[in-house]
Amino acid sequence: MDDIREQFLAELNKAASAKEIDEVRVRYLGRKGVITLLAKNTDFSKLTPEQKRDFGRRLNELKALAESEIGRALEAAKAREAAAPAAVLANLDRTLPGTGHSLGCIHPIALVQMELEDIFQGMGFMVLTGPEVEKEYYNFDALNIPPDHPARDMQDTYWLTNGMLLRTHTSAIQVRAMERFGAPLRAIFPGRCFRYEAIDASHENTFYQLEGLMVDEGISVANLIAVMKALLSEIFHREVTVRLRPGFFPFVEPGFELDAQCLLCGGKGCSTCKGSGWIELIPCGLVHPRVLEFGRIDTSKYSGFAFGLGLTRLAMMKFGIPDIRLMNSGDIRFYEQFPAAV
Ligand code: PHE
Repeated sequence: MDDIREQFLAELNKAASAKEIDEVRVRYLGRKGVITLLAKNTDFSKLTPEQKRDFGRRLNELKALAESEIGRALEAAKAREAAAPAAVLANLDRTLPGTGHSLGCIHPIALVQMELEDIFQGMGFMVLTGPEVEKEYYNFDALNIPPDHPARDMQDTYWLTNGMLLRTHTSAIQVRAMERFGAPLRAIFPGRCFRYEAIDASHENTFYQLEGLMVDEGISVANLIAVMKALLSEIFHREVTVRLRPGFFPFVEPGFELDAQCLLCGGKGCSTCKGSGWIELIPCGLVHPRVLEFGRIDTSKYSGFAFGLGLTRLAMMKFGIPDIRLMNSGDIRFYEQFPAAV
C-alpha cells in the first residue's frame, strides 16, 4: 500500500491538465483502478481479525488521501487553465502580422465601367440603363434590323417563350433614350448583354457593353473620332493611335470598326494583336436616319454617332486578363487582384 501511495502521488504530480488528472483518477480509483482492485483481490479469509481491521483502516486512509489529492490537484489545474488567457496575452508578440479582415473588392468590369462613366460625365453625357429582358422591337426592328435581315443571325439570340428576348447588345437602349429625351442627346448605356455562344477563352454568353450615343446638330465622323480618342487616352492613360475601317451594322451609316494600335507591342506585332499591330476595339458609326426616325428625331436638323464598346474585352485589355471565363468565375482570388484606384 505504501508503494501504491508513492506511485500515485508521483503520477498525480506529473499530471498537469484537468484531463491528465482525471486519467490518474481512473487508473487508481476507477472500477478497475489499482486501489479498487486492491480491496477486491485480497483474500480476507487468510487474515486474522486483527490484520483485517488494520488492512481496512489503511485502505480507507489511502482511498481518502487519493480522493482529496485528486480534488486538490483538479482545482489547481482549473485555476491555472482559467488564468491562461491572461498568460497568453502577457506573452503575446504584438509585432506578429494579424489575420486581417476580408473587405470584398470591385469587379474589374465594374472598375472600367466606373472609370468610363466618370470620363463621359465629364463630357456632358448622361448615364442611362435599359432592361435586360427586351422587346424584339428595341433590340432589332427599331435598329433597322427587320425580321428577315441576315444581321439577326450574327447575334444568336436567347428568345423567351413570351416573345421577348435577352438583349444581345446595349444598342437596344438607343431608341428608348431618343423616345424619352429627344434631341440634343448625349448618353452612355452600360449593361449586360447575352448571346447564345459556345463558351471559350474569348467568348462568354454573358458579357458587358457600354454604348454611347450623341445626337445634335451637325454631328459628323470628326466628332465621333474626337470622342473615341479622348475616351481611349483617358482609360489607358496615354495617347492611343486609332484607325477606322469600314464596318457593317444596319443601325449606322457609315459604319466603322475603330482599331487601336496595339497597346502591348505599340504596333510592332505580338500575340495579342495576332501580329497585325492593331486591335479591333470599338464598332461605331453615324446613326442611321431610319433609327433617328424610329426615335422620333427630326433628321433634317439632327444627326448623331453611336458606338458599342465591349466592356468585358476592354477590361481584359486594360488589366491583361487572358481568359474571359475568369470574369464570371466567382473566384475571389481573381477579383481581389484589381486595385480600386487605377
Ligand atoms: N451593337 C453592336 C454590337 O453589339 C455594336 C455597335 C454599336 C455598332 C453601336 C455600331 C454602333 O455588335
